[in-house]
Amino acid sequence: MTKLLLIEANGNAGEDLLRAAEALGVRTYVATHADLYEKYPQSSRDLIAGTVFTDFSDLEQARKELVAYGRETGVDGVITGWEFFSGLSTLVAADLGLPSHDPALADAVRNKRAMAEAFDQAGAPAPRTVTGPDAEVLAARIAEAGLDYPLVVKPAENAGSIGVSIVREAAGLARAVEFAQGWPFEFPHGTPLDNSVLAQEYVGGVEFSVESAVVDGAVRHIAVTQKFTTDDDSRAELGHTVPAELSSGDRATLLAGVEAGLSALGFRHGIAHTEIKLVSPGVAKIIEIGARPPGDHIMKLVRLATGISEAAAYIDIAVGKAPSLDPTEERAAAIRFLTPPSAGVFRGVSGVPESEHVVEAEVYAEPGKEIGDPTDNVARVGYVIVTAGSTTEVNELANDVVGAITVEVDRP
Ligand SMILES: Nc1ncnc2c1ncn2[C@@H]1O[C@H](COP(=O)(O)OP(=O)(O)O)[C@@H](O)[C@H]1O
Ligand SMILES: [Mg+2]
Repeated sequence: MTKLLLIEANGNAGEDLLRAAEALGVRTYVATHADLYEKYPQSSRDLIAGTVFTDFSDLEQARKELVAYGRETGVDGVITGWEFFSGLSTLVAADLGLPSHDPALADAVRNKRAMAEAFDQAGAPAPRTVTGPDAEVLAARIAEAGLDYPLVVKPAENAGSIGVSIVREAAGLARAVEFAQGWPFEFPHGTPLDNSVLAQEYVGGVEFSVESAVVDGAVRHIAVTQKFTTDDDSRAELGHTVPAELSSGDRATLLAGVEAGLSALGFRHGIAHTEIKLVSPGVAKIIEIGARPPGDHIMKLVRLATGISEAAAYIDIAVGKAPSLDPTEERAAAIRFLTPPSAGVFRGVSGVPESEHVVEAEVYAEPGKEIGDPTDNVARVGYVIVTAGSTTEVNELANDVVGAITVEVDRP
């Protein structure tokens, strides 16, 4: 029987991966922390053949332990459900001689500083970027590179738009750097994060994400998703729609950008989630690429819209099998996040419409929870998933659904 090592099955991608492995008849072994495993839902635990508890606050040690465990267990492939461990997953797979990406670039599939350097070296289309350990050095490098404001300032190694802000003038830089450096450790494993900060040329246009499968270095695209974000100084995600509505020219521009990025980062065997902006006709700029499943239930949207299981493709590729990537559906699916109008104490959500188009609605925040301003993805209290026959229709439906819902908070 085929055996798989899944590095952290926490979160929504983790559950999707466990279910996909079960459907493929693959036995899954999970690496996590003991206290986190305690919180895994029983439905996830039932799908796990074995667990290894390792300490992810020391990635070098974790790498050694997971390689030893992988050898002992005789796993045929290594994947991750947690984006902070995508570099680790590449290294463990490579150490075991299993399908992986270029281990020399393992850091660059996750760390935005290393990623920016790899894009720059390969000439992949990405915003011009400088990095530094503090505001002073960063300011000097911004001047040296001749970068003009507005700039996007972000931490090298966080996620979920945490610490990301747009700086409109030099006077705002120090505050933005302080904000970017506010999370020195990943949560919940306590993995130390690279403290350096990026300042990037702000790229305008419309944002998309692209799901791709890479087999032996050959790229096949699974879906293009349109992303909706707040457009003030923060960039919290409001939702996603699959498939994005695109002309064939724009689609080609985006996909060529993705392919240049994947090659720059040494992608060989696995899946990729690329965030990319279409700046103007013929011009795309990559925001980031992860060697990992997308977050935000995008795998679910892709499955509803195309019938393709990206989770199954990831597993198949990891264990050296050919993935199934042919669409069996031609529909559209959208997710919209529920966030409060402003910070306060969460009271509840009302007005979720009863409709055959609403395939899922979840509120995960507990009443009484203190919620911050909706500047990052942490302020979400839940989501709704809507499907329809076309992208235009699903976007309209999603707007109506979100318009009907009220997120109630008491002002502090
Ligand atoms: N250089 C940029 N120009 C314009 N928008 C950007 C830029 N960098 C980031 N953003 C916006 O901020 C969001 C979060 O930034 P990202 O680099 O993807 O960090 P995270 O890892 O937190 O997702 C992006 O999805 C995009 O909307
Ligand atoms: Mg991102």
